Amino acid sequence: AEPLRIALAGLGTVGAGLVRLFETNGALIESRAGRPVRIVAVSARDRSKDRGVDLSPYVWEDDMTALAEREDVDVVVELVGGADGPALTTARNALRAGKALVTANKAMIAHHGMELAELAESQGIALKFEAAVAGGIPVIKGLREGAAANRIERIYGILNGTCNYILSTMEQTGRDFGEVLAEAQALGYAEADPTFDVEGIDAAHKLAILAAIAFGARIDFPAVDIGGIGRVRAADIAQAEALGYRIRLLGIADCDEGEGLFQRVQPCLVPHGHPLAAVDGPTNAVVAEGNFSGRLLFQGAGAGDGPTASAVAADIIDIARGDIGAPFSVPAAALAVRAPADAGHRTSR
Ligand code: NAP
Ligand code: HSE
Repeated sequence: AEPLRIALAGLGTVGAGLVRLFETNGALIESRAGRPVRIVAVSARDRSKDRGVDLSPYVWEDDMTALAEREDVDVVVELVGGADGPALTTARNALRAGKALVTANKAMIAHHGMELAELAESQGIALKFEAAVAGGIPVIKGLREGAAANRIERIYGILNGTCNYILSTMEQTGRDFGEVLAEAQALGYAEADPTFDVEGIDAAHKLAILAAIAFGARIDFPAVDIGGIGRVRAADIAQAEALGYRIRLLGIADCDEGEGLFQRVQPCLVPHGHPLAAVDGPTNAVVAEGNFSGRLLFQGAGAGDGPTASAVAADIIDIARGDIGAPFSVPAAALAVRAPADAGHRTSR
């Protein structure tokens, strides 16, 4: 069988994790894909950096955006980050050149996902971004495929591993916010700019993507009402605990024909008995309520090299198998334009 040839843009936490996954599970990946799957070319900023993986088998491209022009590449995997800049240029170049695109970049999808999906669909090629939402948890697949026959009433959950790690570690140890954030950065959970995590923006990117899939709506990131955890103090956590609650940063979305699309990220009091209260560390958990499936709970590692690389590799395997299905639940042109609901309404539901 013809090999599927991969170009890898970005060799940081997730990119190096993907190389390690191919080194370790390459034979298994190929058997599941039904054909050889090969990384052929790679690119990042600093060629001399030791990334703990052997890059000698691959061609190094100094100019990342040139990866898409390579004739020996079928799929470009973008693991650089940032809504714009080289990530977006690489993504656009890839799709325009007729290469499938796999990305873990929620900022780029939240801002430019509609444009990229329409480009991919017009070219008849795949655009996949499972790793962009909730790291290793197959929540996009779960909603697009597993819950495909359902009207989703509501979706909510813990969408940022860094914030959950900070809140649950502060809760368990009483340690200081800044110290625990530094630990989350060292463990590879945080964004290059951790204010995206702490201020709720990263969770909002993911919520906007999930809402589009769950409700068949166009992505509307600017309409997300966003709050972060920067003002949560150890004393707030202790007070909540004494009252029978844990503080968790939740993304919440629901959609109603008349009232519009409601999307909010905010620190919430979660009662001890609720499954989300027991979610600790960099774990994410997403609850989706389908009108026939009932309540679905997706839970697992939401950040980190291994889980995120695992989701990226699953997208690559899908492409190797010939799955070029619409990136969202329906073709991008058929996604509904939903008016944003007034911030504040329906919060008591
Ligand atoms: P990272 O560790 O910061 O790695 C970014 C990579 O991109 C590095 O290899 C860097 O090169 C390269 N890069 C950055 N700016 C560049 C530029 N201007 N030109 C060329 N190369 C450039 O990031 P990451 O944590 O792997 O995240 C990558 C993507 O995955 C992001 O979109 C992130 O949001 C997403 N994601 C991350 C996680 C996670 O747990 N980390 C989970 C889910 C999704 P150098 O190494 O040479 O500096
Ligand atoms: N910085 C993100 C988080 C990475 O902490 O959840 C995973 O998307």
